[in-house]
Amino acid sequence: MNIGIPKEIKASEYRVALTPRAVKKLADMGNKVYVEKNAGINSGFKDIEYKESGATIVSSAKQLYNKSKLIVKVKEPQKHEYDLINKDHILFCYLHLAADKSLTKMLLNRGTTGISFETVQLPDGSLPLLVPMSRVAGTLSSHIASNMLHKDKGGLGKLICGLPGVKPAKVLIIGGGTVGLSACEAAIGLNAEVTVVDINTEKLSFFYNKFGGKVKTLPSYPDIIYRECKDADILIGAVLIPGSKAPKIIKKDYIKNMQKGSVFIDVAIDQGGSGETSRPTTHDDPIYTVNEVIHYCVTNIPSLVAVSSTKYLSNEILPYVEMIADGKHETHLPLKKGINTKNGKLLIEL
Ligand SMILES: NC(=O)c1ccc[n+]([C@@H]2O[C@H](COP(=O)([O-])OP(=O)(O)OC[C@H]3O[C@@H](n4cnc5c(N)ncnc54)[C@H](O)[C@@H]3O)[C@@H](O)[C@H]2O)c1
Repeated sequence: MNIGIPKEIKASEYRVALTPRAVKKLADMGNKVYVEKNAGINSGFKDIEYKESGATIVSSAKQLYNKSKLIVKVKEPQKHEYDLINKDHILFCYLHLAADKSLTKMLLNRGTTGISFETVQLPDGSLPLLVPMSRVAGTLSSHIASNMLHKDKGGLGKLICGLPGVKPAKVLIIGGGTVGLSACEAAIGLNAEVTVVDINTEKLSFFYNKFGGKVKTLPSYPDIIYRECKDADILIGAVLIPGSKAPKIIKKDYIKNMQKGSVFIDVAIDQGGSGETSRPTTHDDPIYTVNEVIHYCVTNIPSLVAVSSTKYLSNEILPYVEMIADGKHETHLPLKKGINTKNGKLLIEL
């Protein structure tokens, strides 16, 4: 199959979908791989490395889309890219359609096969291609929040780990999945006081068993979240209903009730956000405040560490790219779950 790897054009997106090593494997299998000029440069991979791996470098996105059937990229196509996409393309990337009506409409109008990383699902319900970037985003969310507590960022002026005779910062994590776990591990590593809230009691048991008394676990009820938000220094939104718009469980009132200078990182913003006060931001302008609570709602957090993220993502998606190139996406059940649009039909519930 002809496979194209474009350069990402989303604001401050430094990742690329596949490394030269992954490209070599695809080329050795008999696929023809096209890579857009400088696609890997911000992740530490030069064009020459792709060329030596068997790829053909093309100088424009237009050429790449014209020559390729399977487009493998990281983030959802941006408006500038819409005109490049047609019915014959199979698009494999993070799509997050629940948060993007215009992209959904475009894919349906074109009749494109859109397979999203985040809805590929194993029989046990897990999401193998969401997990890698959720791990990265979860870890970073605690690090970023710790930094946002500093006075120069408009934060409370608290040191996350506390000091002898001084309490550590309180981190409240809503959603104990992959993002929640990584955020929790990082926050505990920073010596913060951590509370995890989840709607699924099995998740609460998992956290209790893994961290014992080090982490407080609570069920997801509005009054509990309201109460816990009040004295949280850091609030991390990490909920997900796979494929759907994030539930807006962090209400305006809860934010109003938080301390001035506290920090809300809404990691779930790529699915529309878990807060009523959340709106997407970029790495170039990542924060805004509501009632003097700092909001950080960047939709592509893992791009901050593009060198690490690209390697991790490429390793995880490669087996699926191989299957799609072999035409197995119609029969392989986890991949079939990833198909969001096909022949003008929407195949997931938004
Ligand atoms: N902004 C970014 O750069 C970025 C990067 C990676 C992931 N994400 C997003 O982060 C979010 C979380 O991803 P994940 O991989 O951790 O998902 P996950 O499925 O592993 O975990 C989600 C958790 O939310 C819980 N949940 C659902 N509804 C809830 C509710 N009402 N109250 C409390 N808990 C609830 C679920 O039980 C589950 O434990 C997703 O929206 C994902 O797309 C964003």
